[in-house]
Amino acid sequence: MKITVITGSPRKHGNTFAMTDAFIKAAEAKGHEVMRFDAAMMKIGGCHACMTCFKTGKACSFDDDFNIIAPHILDADAIVYAMPLYWYSIPAQIKGVIDRVFSFCVAEKPIQGKKLGLICCCEEHDAALLEGITVPMRRTADLLKWEIVGEVLVPGVFHEGDVAKTDGCAQAAALAEKF
Ligand SMILES: Cc1cc2nc3c(=O)[nH]c(=O)nc-3n(C[C@H](O)[C@H](O)[C@H](O)COP(=O)(O)O)c2cc1C
Repeated sequence: MKITVITGSPRKHGNTFAMTDAFIKAAEAKGHEVMRFDAAMMKIGGCHACMTCFKTGKACSFDDDFNIIAPHILDADAIVYAMPLYWYSIPAQIKGVIDRVFSFCVAEKPIQGKKLGLICCCEEHDAALLEGITVPMRRTADLLKWEIVGEVLVPGVFHEGDVAKTDGCAQAAALAEKF
């Protein structure tokens, strides 16, 4: 299976990246082909809602790094979004990618039928707060006819390295078994 992993944390040694690494290691061990994009380290703006998607030979007419990721979303059998909770919501670092998946809908590209995995973490100890990510992602999956195969939801991690005190990386590795 081709799995495209997109992260949304700016911390290279943070909790999201540790879980992402664990997921990718397990997924590759299972024989999956994984492409990883760290959106926070790329230049990716928001959707301009110009509705000219794919009319200029690329997904987005505003040519930033989304156009590097776009073919790997379209081509993937599965997508994994990995991100921390920022202000009870999806971080800006990855939101531009998620918003611009709209380009495939506008251009009527075959985006349906993918599997989706989520890897999310936050400082506060109540996992229900991660609904700020899971609710929009579940609705998005419904609309796109993507199947959510697993959600790794890890509350109670604040500083880099905190995830090591949890079973978050083990859960992320177990997520790979679901693809
Ligand atoms: C801008 C910003 C906003 C945040 N908002 C929340 C929040 O609303 N709720 C929460 O529990 N944690 C919040 N956090 C904490 C992060 O979710 C937490 O530190 C997480 O472990 C960061 O993941 P990372 O190490 O992968 O970057 C916020 C952190 C930042 C930097």
